[in-house]
Amino acid sequence: MLEAIERKMEQYILDLEDRDALELYKKLPAGKRLRAKMILSIAGSTLASIKTAAIVEMIHAASLLHDDVIDDAYVRRGNPSINAIYGNKTSIMFGDVLYSKGFYELIDIDRDVAKTISDAVVKLSLGERQDVILSHSFNSNKDAYMQMIYGKTASLIEASAKSAAILAGKDRDIYAKYGKNLGLAFQMIDDILDITQDSQKLGKPAMHDYEEGKCTLPYIYLYEKLNNEDRDKLLSLHAKRLSNEDIDWIKDKMISSGALKKASDEAKALALEAVELMQSEGNKELERVAMQMIERSF
Ligand code: IPE
Ligand code: IPE
Ligand code: MG
Ligand code: MG
Ligand code: MG
Repeated sequence: MLEAIERKMEQYILDLEDRDALELYKKLPAGKRLRAKMILSIAGSTLASIKTAAIVEMIHAASLLHDDVIDDAYVRRGNPSINAIYGNKTSIMFGDVLYSKGFYELIDIDRDVAKTISDAVVKLSLGERQDVILSHSFNSNKDAYMQMIYGKTASLIEASAKSAAILAGKDRDIYAKYGKNLGLAFQMIDDILDITQDSQKLGKPAMHDYEEGKCTLPYIYLYEKLNNEDRDKLLSLHAKRLSNEDIDWIKDKMISSGALKKASDEAKALALEAVELMQSEGNKELERVAMQMIERSF
């Protein structure tokens, strides 16, 4: 059924009757389509759910086009990013096209779904902005981190689950909670994978967050656990280009201090809460979607 979503997305782009937009769209590899899978497993394969899933994936792709400009990232989904190939301006403008077309199509689906998803995109944009603001100095405040990842990532996953529940006439609050917990866990795992995986595996830059000044949860815990001398060293590396030696030092401390494990345990606990919510709903498929989102290496 994912095939139907691919077709719908392509149809939306063809509607634009713009050769350049179509060419750019063809340069975008598909990604994992996790948000689409989640929507279909909650709402089944109706026309409205396929449209919603296609719109959410278009919006997600738009957010990545902008994110790679914001993060100076030149690899995405295993390929050179659009900003790497055509520059920042193209990436931003094509992102705007995907966002706007998504909103245009949303209007015809359902008023509550349209409100839910467009509200999440406001939160996503504010979250991306917070991420950048927090990166200007070393952020050791976990609450600020949690609020920021809720905005930039969990809000759209929460809105996807809630929208699918609205379309299917299911309990929207339970599904929203499921999506929120899963979305928070999802970003925490993404932040862990930045440290533990290589770029080849991720299909995007590795060990890049800290260079960009992003103090993700493992860094917040690492800071708490280090002695003064090591703290000073960690702070001195913040938002700098890291040498191989620096990278080895950080990875080593992440493991020996238990910071990485603490962050990973916390992500798993949140994901498990999501799984338990679905157990009470009796939805095995969504338990699997939750596990897929968590037990991943890219
Ligand atoms: C990447 O999302 C951005 C984050 C929210 C961490 P995904 O990991 O779902 O990206 P794709 O769509 O599979 O490439
Ligand atoms: C971005 O988070 C999440 C978005 C909403 C786009 P990241 O900046 O960590 O995402 P990746 O690692 O580049 O995919
Ligand atoms: Mg990024
Ligand atoms: Mg980012
Ligand atoms: Mg990341």
